[in-house]
Amino acid sequence: MKIRTEKVQVMWFKACIFDLDGVIVDTAKYHFLAWKRLADEMGINFTEHDNERLKGVSRMASLEIILELGGKSLPQTEKEKLADIKNRWYVEYISRMTPEEILPGAMEFVRELRNKNYKVALGSASKNTPMIIERVGMTDIFDAVADGNTVRKAKPDPEVFLKASSVLGVDPDRCIVFEDAAAGIEAALNAGMACVGIGNSKILKNAHLVIGGLNEMNIDKIYSLEKQLGHEKLV
Ligand code: BG6
Ligand code: MG
Repeated sequence: MKIRTEKVQVMWFKACIFDLDGVIVDTAKYHFLAWKRLADEMGINFTEHDNERLKGVSRMASLEIILELGGKSLPQTEKEKLADIKNRWYVEYISRMTPEEILPGAMEFVRELRNKNYKVALGSASKNTPMIIERVGMTDIFDAVADGNTVRKAKPDPEVFLKASSVLGVDPDRCIVFEDAAAGIEAALNAGMACVGIGNSKILKNAHLVIGGLNEMNIDKIYSLEKQLGHEKLV
């Protein structure tokens, strides 16, 4: 009897989970503008370089980083007031968003995944997720949404991605996360998921693959990732 020892593709991955800010839509610039305005008013020097540390982390954790940069410590009630002010400014920006602010290739890739029967979900720290996806017309395209309103622990804790995979009914190791933040890559790895970084490969060095944007992504790259991670089957 002849024993076959070829490796074949098994379609290991069943779901893709997307971060929202900086992956699906370009809201990172609005977060920066609103935090910058607050920092300026408080006399704290806050640069785009500092802003990298805020990506993916919760609203309160972002404020803590800014206060640390300014060497300030404030009582909780004061911090809550400042976070509310920043959010009001941020909401002014996002309430004017249009579908044109969906990042290049995002809608096309999500549609391609759906056509190929992959499940698609959002996994975002933002409490403003429902408003953003409504403004850009993407509310109905996701099979599940896990966001800052439904989870308690911030990335790099895996909670948000584990929640999305459990709502989808797909095991974590069958999910691929798409993330633009170092904290998000760590969260995906902590969840036992594959992850694709969107942006700078130096910052996102722990991702399994780094691309410039979802316009560079396609199903063939998912198959390559399966190969890279040893999910082909020996027959
Ligand atoms: C993340 C952003 O997606 O959401 C962070 O990368 C932001 O910058 C966090 O702080 C929380 O967002 P929101 O909209 O709840 O203030
Ligand atoms: Mg992000």
